[in-house]
Amino acid sequence: MPLEEARVPVMDRGFIFGDGIYEVIPAYSRKPFRLKEHLKRLQASLDSIRLKNPHSDSQWTELCAQLVAQNQGEDQYIYLHVTRGPAKREHAFPKQIHPTVFMMSTPLQTTPPELLKTGVAAITAQDNRWLRCDIKAISLLPNVLLRQMAVDCGTVETVLLRDGILTEGAASNIFVVKYGVVLAPPKNHLILPGITYDVVLELAAAHSIPHQVRAVSESEVRAAQELWMTSSAKEVLAITTLDNQPVGDGKPGKLFWRAGLWASSFHCLNTRAPSLSRSWAGTGRDLPRQ
Ligand code: PDD
Repeated sequence: MPLEEARVPVMDRGFIFGDGIYEVIPAYSRKPFRLKEHLKRLQASLDSIRLKNPHSDSQWTELCAQLVAQNQGEDQYIYLHVTRGPAKREHAFPKQIHPTVFMMSTPLQTTPPELLKTGVAAITAQDNRWLRCDIKAISLLPNVLLRQMAVDCGTVETVLLRDGILTEGAASNIFVVKYGVVLAPPKNHLILPGITYDVVLELAAAHSIPHQVRAVSESEVRAAQELWMTSSAKEVLAITTLDNQPVGDGKPGKLFWRAGLWASSFHCLNTRAPSLSRSWAGTGRDLPRQ
């Protein structure tokens, strides 16, 4: 049905309490990217909030296929959302649960090639979210306020620090390059286990880019040679200014071009030729050799 006609009951616990979880799945050339992994994370989020999965993986796969087929755009952005459904307003779970499932797909807004070439500006802020950031919960008010803080400063992302340690971005994972080594904060309750994060680490391993998964301190973030943000919506993007200071030489670094181009071609593998996603193809750069 058209998006504007979709309705949700006002007593839905998603609306009343933010009691639900979601996923964002990019589809390249109408093929959902890493669907199995997204469905696994969906299951983990549902388990964490003690909500039974309303569909099997094969049902979700079919629903995604139908949605993509019915919508415009070769590259799309699938959003799916499950809440604990409508009930009398009472914090504890209702006895009878009728989950609400909402899915939509919109054309994927890829990053303009210009931004890939220049990188983007970001700010830092204290991570003031709850301690279950591993759950992809729809209650995103802290993330909303933190991202707005970036926008208010004319920047694109807020890099979050908790007790002097890097966690992630308001809506992305963050990587740091130090002495030619890619550093990634470990997956734990303080960050969302990003699907793009996994892709970047797999590609680093496959292409022998030195990398380490370990806690990254605030001073390492501030002294980084390169900073990257990753997400399904933005793929890999270089942060070239942090709190008004240049990151490295203030341009996307060598490793960014390698990892970003590989990630882009990986996203599009088996989906189209040439093998880069549209924004990366527009940078005029070609896939690096080993
Ligand atoms: N957000 N961390 C946070 C807090 C995020 O919101 C996201 C993505 C990520 C990256 O995860 P992935 O690579 O699986 O997209 C990390 C999505 C895109 C959103 O909320 O719209």
